[in-house]
Amino acid sequence: MTSRTTEVPKSGIGAPVDRVEARDKVTGSARYTADARLPRMTHAALVASTVSSGRVRRIDTARAAAAPGVLAVLTHRDRMPWKGSPADAQYVENRFPLADDRITYYGQYLAVVVAETPEQAEHAASLVAIDYEVHRPVPTLDEALPDAYTATGRLIQPPFPQRAVLPQDADPQAALDGAAVRIDTTYRVPHYSHAPLEPGAVVASWEGGTLTLRDCSQKVHVHRDVVAAVFGLPPDRVRVLSPLVGGAFGNKTTVWAHSLLAAAAARAVRRPVKLVITRKQSFTAMGHQPPIIQRIRLGADARGKLAVIFHDVVNATEVRGDRPEPAVVSTASTYAAQALSVTTRVAKVNIGPSQNLRAPGDGPGSFALESAMDELAYRLDMDPLELRRRNHLDRDPLSRREWSDKNLLEAYDLGAERFGWSRRPAKPGSLRDGDDLIGYGMATAVRGELPDGKATQAEVVIRADGTAEVRAAIQEIGTGSLTLVAQITAAGTGVPLDRVDVRAGDTRLPRTPGNGGSKATGYTGSAVHLAAEQARATAVRMAVADPESPLYGLPQGEIEAGDGKLFHREKPRREETYRDLLTRHGGKAVLGKGHYKPRTSHAVATFGAHFTEVRINPRLPRVRVTRHVGVFDIGRVTNHKAARNQAQGGIVMGMGWALMEQLVPDPVSGRYLGPAFTDYHIPVNADVPDIDVLFVDKPDTVAHPHGSKGMGEVISVGVAAAIANAVYHATGKRITDLPITPDKLM
Ligand code: MOS
Repeated sequence: MTSRTTEVPKSGIGAPVDRVEARDKVTGSARYTADARLPRMTHAALVASTVSSGRVRRIDTARAAAAPGVLAVLTHRDRMPWKGSPADAQYVENRFPLADDRITYYGQYLAVVVAETPEQAEHAASLVAIDYEVHRPVPTLDEALPDAYTATGRLIQPPFPQRAVLPQDADPQAALDGAAVRIDTTYRVPHYSHAPLEPGAVVASWEGGTLTLRDCSQKVHVHRDVVAAVFGLPPDRVRVLSPLVGGAFGNKTTVWAHSLLAAAAARAVRRPVKLVITRKQSFTAMGHQPPIIQRIRLGADARGKLAVIFHDVVNATEVRGDRPEPAVVSTASTYAAQALSVTTRVAKVNIGPSQNLRAPGDGPGSFALESAMDELAYRLDMDPLELRRRNHLDRDPLSRREWSDKNLLEAYDLGAERFGWSRRPAKPGSLRDGDDLIGYGMATAVRGELPDGKATQAEVVIRADGTAEVRAAIQEIGTGSLTLVAQITAAGTGVPLDRVDVRAGDTRLPRTPGNGGSKATGYTGSAVHLAAEQARATAVRMAVADPESPLYGLPQGEIEAGDGKLFHREKPRREETYRDLLTRHGGKAVLGKGHYKPRTSHAVATFGAHFTEVRINPRLPRVRVTRHVGVFDIGRVTNHKAARNQAQGGIVMGMGWALMEQLVPDPVSGRYLGPAFTDYHIPVNADVPDIDVLFVDKPDTVAHPHGSKGMGEVISVGVAAAIANAVYHATGKRITDLPITPDKLM
């Protein structure tokens, strides 16, 4: 496998260095949230609803309360400590946990039990007896569809309307009616779960009036602000620590009921409480992407130029609130149609609250749009890649701004060349190997970057012992962020990488947007870059002003840094170590602060292209992906090893969407069938082929000073469509509802 189009640097930015936490992970000494132990710690377990709609008529906690080791049992009959409203706190549910007796989804928590040991808590939880008043649920999106409506509010930040026509004076219907070629297809994606291996886990402890939460979080400051608001505390009375995170994929960007319940329970028993939710609970009450139905209509001229795109979306949403899925958001920014019309509606189903999943919106949105583009290409008898080239956008129609940088055409060329796209026979079903049908498919990936409202902060210190430390409240969620900030610190200060310490995952550290929305590298990386530059510049000023320094009197701008030293290239070379300089200056560390807010004069997006090959045996039509090439235009690559690994992971997630993932609700009770990895299938190693990852690797310093843009989401966008398009090429069957299981190809 390769990961480059240019030379991979051996050191500095881009170098494929190992993760800073790699040794801890492979030796088992890495500590995750659930590994935390505190003195006098107790353990909690949750009781969850086994019906999806109704009321708690009676809840009998007597046997649980009398069970060995039990310290407390809390239900909706207890006064919970919540303050204000869920909306004001930006809490994920429109109701605080245990706030009332009403049940609106299967898995909703109805009680929390605290005991001396986890086993005692779990046992006592099993003794809580609930008498339900069972109502008939709305179990599926299909059943809810007649009552679909346009939610109030906006799709996402920046505000994107749920109904829009672009440009405003366009007549999309007339454009469609007048088009030489028309496509009109409805696509469906099922209920997906984030499905990280690490379930929710939290350790809550109070000292005085201060709450400390060790929690699984992608964004500790967001987490802190929500928890503080829910408990009516000033933010500085809540500290959130998030050590290594064992996968998240969006569901740890917010605070869930179990964290609030652990904090409330710790307050009630006046001891620390650890709560590790079950695998099933992490499927049922920790977010998901709801099922989505998307109708795409395309109108084009005979040469494939798009006249119009209609994208109409309806998604299932929870009973107590509404959350439109932003599936249309990138549609405007992907192809050059003369007119665009998008609508988004929701329909209420008895499910829990949804939450951003992987590439929210664009994951499912791209399945529909990129499948429709493939259909159009076949209708036009045109190469699907050529159709995309003909509709390339040079400017972002949504923001009406130039892109900071865009190398999508180059990504197409690189991917097509590496994949061997030119060897693709045009006719579906014409490529065979023995009995097996072979198919090629491709898709475009576009992911717009949504700015963060708050400035990103970071600090870098260079210490008198010649080491450096970088401090920023990012988290390690498995993508290498700690290593990237260490690399950026090393490059900016000249302190060798193995002498850079990283402090992260703590609200006492400088605030960042966290690890979500593809912002970690572009935003935090840039704040670290600025902090490192400032620390070095301070040290340089000290040296050139110090008569005892070999660098005394030299122009500041000519001093370079590397190998733990400041130096000047003139002959004979003049240099001094940070250690000597800072020791002579009283042994104090120099501090650099990075304060970063991106400029907004350009649209910022990441781009990519996926090329995939499938193999299908017609007698047992299970789709195997046998080759995949992904090319990504994400600005500068900060670490080629981490980036390749992350891209492969994102592509594997797309394979999951395409071929196996789905949470299936029982059509009568609305319960999920098999909320666990036994039934919720994700690709395993045996399902994953050789994944070839290439990067355009051009610094985009217009987007961010560090030159990198985020990659966490664009890597998954379009994968499912590329696979579905390859399935069509192999079989002539257009599968419009995911996942593409064998029954759909029989
Ligand atoms: Mo992401 S879905 O913002 O982790």
